[in-house]
Amino acid sequence: MKHLLSTADLAKPDAVQILDTAEEMSAVSLREVKKLPVLRGRTVVNLFFEDSTRTRISFEAAAKRLSADVINFAAKGSSVSKGESLKDTAQTLEAMGADAVVIRHWASGAPARLAGSGWIDATVVNAGDGTHEHPTQALLDAFTLRRTWAKLNGTASTGTDLAGMKVAIVGDILHSRVARSNLWLLRTLGAEVTMVAPPTLLPVGSREWPCTISYDLDATLAAGTDAVMMLRVQGERMNAAYFPSTQEYSSRWGFNDLRLAALDASGRDGTIIMHPGPMNRGLEISSAAADSPRSTVLDQVRNGVAVRMAALYLLLSGGTASAAPAPTAAQ
Ligand code: CP
Repeated sequence: MKHLLSTADLAKPDAVQILDTAEEMSAVSLREVKKLPVLRGRTVVNLFFEDSTRTRISFEAAAKRLSADVINFAAKGSSVSKGESLKDTAQTLEAMGADAVVIRHWASGAPARLAGSGWIDATVVNAGDGTHEHPTQALLDAFTLRRTWAKLNGTASTGTDLAGMKVAIVGDILHSRVARSNLWLLRTLGAEVTMVAPPTLLPVGSREWPCTISYDLDATLAAGTDAVMMLRVQGERMNAAYFPSTQEYSSRWGFNDLRLAALDASGRDGTIIMHPGPMNRGLEISSAAADSPRSTVLDQVRNGVAVRMAALYLLLSGGTASAAPAPTAAQ
């Protein structure tokens, strides 16, 4: 595996190996071990054409904890504003020594274009492209879910999948690359997925997806779910025609205080509430839900560093994920 572009084409053994390697990396990501020297002399470029807090900073932290050099590029303030193309920008950065390019772009397909064009030789990692995919978000979500599933079942999380786990993905599915990447990866790992959304926020063709579609969050919660993944309402990608009022959205599709109270009263103590961030508090999730003991929002952020360390390590170690040696030397 040279590039990480999507979860739709990520084989199960490679996905499990990334998650297992992330378990090994988590001691380093949590600073219990200082750094690993495994990517010393390698350069990771963060090439961001869209804003980001979690993804960009955690890729930077991940690369540095593997001893790589990091170059951060934001399109804002760069020669992109003078009309420089993706090809010329990427080739310019590779000429400065990039071994891996972590790219976020507003255009769906930009990372695949960069990887398949022959413009550069560097490894390409998709850090979110348009409404298409966000594979490392799905991997860190799967890592978080796998730990939850192992705890619920009293088993070890390493080496396992999510067979039988029930996950509800709720909200603005239409614009969500997180929803798409999660669906493909969760199905690969054996979880059952229900997508819950207003009809106007479901993409054409979603009825063909390998999941249950529902418009009714309360019915989905009443049926029992092990994890509820709330999605950000992406106001910047939609016009008013798509969107119910804030109050209607919150009461019908938001994880609000009433739903939190109902879940607490249900006896389903193990059910977690997830959100990839950034959150619209009071819209798709209430503050009480976001800050409750069920919330894994900050665990997801923490796990993101370990998962991105694993992905960079396996990709830059050469060949397939399954061919890479386990990291051992710490300093
Ligand atoms: N979840 C996520 O992609 O967050 P950022 O946009 O802050 O990177």
